[in-house]
Amino acid sequence: MTPDYSSQLRAAVAAARTAGEFLRARFADVKQVNAEMPHDLKLQLDRDTQQLIARCLLAEYPDYAILGEEGETGSMSAEALWIVDPIDGTVNYFYGIPIFCVSIALQVKDRVVLGCVYDPMQDECFTAVVGGAALLNGRAIRVSARQRMAEAVVFVGHGSHDGSGAEGVRRFAHISSQVRKVRILGSAALTLCYIATGRFDAYIENRINLWDFAAARVILECAGGKLEFTPEVAHARQGSVIAWNGQLPIHAALEMPTPQA
Ligand code: IPD
Repeated sequence: MTPDYSSQLRAAVAAARTAGEFLRARFADVKQVNAEMPHDLKLQLDRDTQQLIARCLLAEYPDYAILGEEGETGSMSAEALWIVDPIDGTVNYFYGIPIFCVSIALQVKDRVVLGCVYDPMQDECFTAVVGGAALLNGRAIRVSARQRMAEAVVFVGHGSHDGSGAEGVRRFAHISSQVRKVRILGSAALTLCYIATGRFDAYIENRINLWDFAAARVILECAGGKLEFTPEVAHARQGSVIAWNGQLPIHAALEMPTPQA
């Protein structure tokens, strides 16, 4: 039997909403960039938001550790670990594109047991605890029933890491002729929640981080979807993801023809 995680979920939702309001209030401001990479940015607001989330969570659960995109608090071998992405969709946020979210998961003894993803611009709060229903603002959600690639909307991630963008473009070209539409939303966590609601049908990306999808994975699976994560050899918390509504023949659709000699 799954233990009762309702208090922890309440704490995650409160922290995500506090952080979401903080980000929404600063959405139109000029943002301080701390680091600029070819396909990514690090903002001071990423750090400030993670600190805000950490303060909220640690006030209620001082013994739990935090693993976040912006660093770690406490021991990474702690029994209970919050996995936090303070802004998933940082590049969107910086450019003023209102598609980003706050993502908070709780891992207990190496198993992620709950997830909360909050989109402050739409005031959409996605939640789930393993073994329960996936909810959007408290109402149950479910993946689509679509079974044919021809009617699917698929997100193909354009990763932030060297080489992963090119791979994303190759997959985009391969899959776009098979489906109704391909989309690149810019937030892995929101994309997974969109599959959980039936707005999207599948998502593929070849290199993302645990904090990008940990919370949304619980929400997707509780909504009837599936997610396969293949970790990289050198980084257990980074790898490729295939997520779908559990109905589409996504693996067959991804098979690339062998190049002719
Ligand atoms: C990014 C987003 C994006 C995905 C990248 C991630 P961040 O997360 O989820 O959709 O394509 O791989 O790094 O950096 O905005 O938290």
